[in-house]
Amino acid sequence: MSTSVLTGVAWPYTNGPRHIGHVSGIGVPSDVFSRFHRMSGNKVLMVSGSDEHGTPILVQAEKEGVTPRELVDKYHRVIAEDMRDLGVSYDLYTRTTTGNHYEVVRQIFLALYRNGYIVPRTTTGAVSPSTGRTLPDRYIEGTCPICGSDGARGDQCDNCGNQLDAAELRNPVSRINGETPRFVETEHLFLDLPAFTESLGKWLATRTDWRSNVLNFTRNLVEDMRPRPITRDLDWGVPVPLDGWDEQSMKRLYVWFDAVIGYFSASVEWARRSGDPEAWRAWWNDPEALRVYFMGKDNITFHAQIWPALLMGHNGAGDRGGTPGPYGELNLPTEIASSEFLTMTGSKFSTSRGTVIYVRDFVREFGPDALRYFISAAGPETHDVDFTWDEFVRRINFELVNEWGNLVNRAVSLAAKNVGAVPEPRAPEAVDEELKSTARQAFDVVGGHLRASRFRAATQEAMRVVSAANKYLSEQEPWKRKDDPERRDTILHTALQVVSDANTLLTPFLPHSSQRVYELLGGSGVWAAQPRLEDVDDLDVADRRYPILTGDYTEELASWESRPIGVGTPLSKPTPLFGKLDPELAETGPEWAPIRH
Ligand code: MF3
Ligand code: ZN
Repeated sequence: MSTSVLTGVAWPYTNGPRHIGHVSGIGVPSDVFSRFHRMSGNKVLMVSGSDEHGTPILVQAEKEGVTPRELVDKYHRVIAEDMRDLGVSYDLYTRTTTGNHYEVVRQIFLALYRNGYIVPRTTTGAVSPSTGRTLPDRYIEGTCPICGSDGARGDQCDNCGNQLDAAELRNPVSRINGETPRFVETEHLFLDLPAFTESLGKWLATRTDWRSNVLNFTRNLVEDMRPRPITRDLDWGVPVPLDGWDEQSMKRLYVWFDAVIGYFSASVEWARRSGDPEAWRAWWNDPEALRVYFMGKDNITFHAQIWPALLMGHNGAGDRGGTPGPYGELNLPTEIASSEFLTMTGSKFSTSRGTVIYVRDFVREFGPDALRYFISAAGPETHDVDFTWDEFVRRINFELVNEWGNLVNRAVSLAAKNVGAVPEPRAPEAVDEELKSTARQAFDVVGGHLRASRFRAATQEAMRVVSAANKYLSEQEPWKRKDDPERRDTILHTALQVVSDANTLLTPFLPHSSQRVYELLGGSGVWAAQPRLEDVDDLDVADRRYPILTGDYTEELASWESRPIGVGTPLSKPTPLFGKLDPELAETGPEWAPIRH
């Protein structure tokens, strides 16, 4: 039976090109997951987009001397190109500055407001004493009052993941000029989180199958729920859709309030563009649908607490009751797949701190599948991983090139040279059957890991089939069987069948090279579909165009099962699948990201 699977991928701030840290916990795992589910016959909707509001954008725009709008127009395209080149198969990658997003955010806000979950409050906000300018969120840095780490920001501490108020920071300073801010009274709208204590607590208690890092984080979440401000003193963001608030140029919705709604608004946009504007309901109203969200660990609160609270409030399912908004009862997340960080010698990848390896450079030099393989096999799935060129070279040369590339090359070349086509399996022996059954059984094992977002284990199990096939070829030595063509053909047939199966198992990880292996084995048509970048008109705002990523994934032929290879299919000598990396790279790094000793 086909299941509807919503893959929600955290929305990157539109403030720079993607580096490998960004895609290692989010982009690649979410794509492997989505590709696997599509291959399994499930109805996947994979959505994300650029997160274009808030102080992360304003700070970078100031740095580059451009307007926020210019900044996001530039980087939205750059990010979309990075993700396309990596082969991340979004059904829709959009952005938060669209007419559709603004309207959906308005509707969700109003439903929450009508149900009584949004309340005004007077609070304190940071202001620059020298310029009088407001300094929300990232404009302020200081020491975290909870974990004591430096560099906590006015809205959140990245070290412990807690949400903060600027006024709680110890030693707060302005990031603009280092001065100590003044705190003044200002009126804001608050999400009444305490009104979700019971409903959120009950729901979280049922989430026993989440990854332990997420469970550890959410365990104490409902103990101290305070109202959270969801507006800011800024002129960049979604206007507050209430009388008296909407015409104030310096009041906007908080970036996190609108960003998480993006998962839903993007689904609506996708449906509207598909020609069936109600098509999103299969993922959002049907409780049978799976809803899996991928993010870094600094995003857990927003996905495990704030987003569920917003959905409950919209549905009228918080402690104050209420009635569902215009979209009906919306589904809460079923899974929060949060990853840890890819570090470089211990420090989080960060554009601001100077250790950066851009996806664009990486893919240009090594190809998308080398990066995808490395991340899948050795990424920061359950603990921080320190990226080293040494480990990258080792994984690519010993695993991808020597094991997988070599297996494909040996099996196809031998069959091409000796038979010129896929040979007949004449009289299979026990060793042949055993290898084929190892490959067939791997579909359940690898599939089980992928369903549970265990990508490292899944990669390892798929590669076990590859190793077994290499061992088989070395032991059976088909090249020494000139006098026994019947046995030789059986061995080559078996090897090619297992190459085909391993290729299927590796397709979610290696969608580009799997297309080539499929063609080497005589296949035609689209085996693994790729996203495309398309410039489209905004559906609601005149004269505004923007690039999106989308794709025709239902056309792809890959499916999660062993498919018998076609006896007699002509074969020709292949060119190598992957290039071997110069071992020197392990010591020097590439020119564009040299290792500094
Ligand atoms: N832009 C945020 C970040 O980079 C993530 C937003 S995820 C969303 O940390 F759910 F809000 F979209
Ligand atoms: Zn902290």
